[in-house]
Amino acid sequence: MDFKNFDQRHYAFVSPREGYGEWADDYEQCVPDLLDLKVLNHLESVDWAYAEPALDLACGTGRTGQWLQSRGVATLDGLDITPEMLEQAKTKAIYRHLKLGTVEHTELSPEQYALITMCLADEHLASLQGVYQEAFRLAKPGAMFVVVGMHPFFFMFGMPTHFDGKDGQPKAIHTHVHLFSDHFRAAQAAGWRLQESYEGLIDDDWIQVKPKWKKHQDCPVNYGYVWVKDHQ
Ligand SMILES: C[S@@+](CC[C@H](N)C(=O)[O-])C[C@H]1O[C@@H](n2cnc3c(N)ncnc32)[C@H](O)[C@@H]1O
Repeated sequence: MDFKNFDQRHYAFVSPREGYGEWADDYEQCVPDLLDLKVLNHLESVDWAYAEPALDLACGTGRTGQWLQSRGVATLDGLDITPEMLEQAKTKAIYRHLKLGTVEHTELSPEQYALITMCLADEHLASLQGVYQEAFRLAKPGAMFVVVGMHPFFFMFGMPTHFDGKDGQPKAIHTHVHLFSDHFRAAQAAGWRLQESYEGLIDDDWIQVKPKWKKHQDCPVNYGYVWVKDHQ
C-alpha cells in the first residue's frame, strides 16, 4: 500500500537514495534505539554468536551492525543503496565488506550467509517479494533472516519516515505500508518459514522519548520477524 493514502503531514517526498544521502550526517542522533534495537533485544530464537558469517541488508550507518557485533557476530558484511550512509558505516570498522547496492539485487554470491538482517528498511520497498527472494538466495541452509521495521498500524497514524533537510524543512522519504500478511506471503513464496514474531507497543519508555505519542499509548509501533531457511 502506498503511504500517501494515510499521510497527515504532507511533507515533500524524496527517494531513499536522495533522502538518506542528505540525512546521513545526523541520522544517528535522530533514531532512538527503541525503534529497532529494543526489538532485536526481544527476539529469543536467534543464536547471534553462532551466526557466521552475517549480512546486514540496508546497513545504513552501521547501528544494526554495532548491535550485532555486541552480540558476538564476528564476521559481518553490509550493503546499502546510499553511499553517504555507507561512508558513516565504514568509519565504525565493524564490517568485513561494505557494498553499494539494492537489497533486491545484491550481486553477492549465493548460499554464503548464516544470518541476514534488515532493520528499518522494508517501508522503502514498494514490493517485498524481491528482498525475501534475494535473502533466500544468499542464505545457507539453516540460515535465519531477521526483519525489523516500523509497524504498519503506526504508519496508518499518518507520519512517514522523515527528517529535517539541510534547509530546515521536513522531508519525507518514500514510504510503503506492508501488512503482516504481505510479509508472510512474500517470505513463504520465497521459501522462508516463520520461526518467531514480535510486536512492540508504545510503552512508557516511548512516552519518555516522545511525549506527544501519549495519545497512541499501547498501539503497535514496530515489529520483528525471524524467518528460517530449512534444510531440504
Ligand atoms: C532507516 S535506515 C536503517 C539503517 C540501519 N539498518 C539502522 O537500523 O539504523 C534505512 C536504510 O535503508 C537503505 N535503503 C533504502 N532502500 C534500500 C534498497 N532498496 N536497497 C538497499 N538499501 C536501501 C537506506 O539507504 C538507509 O540507509
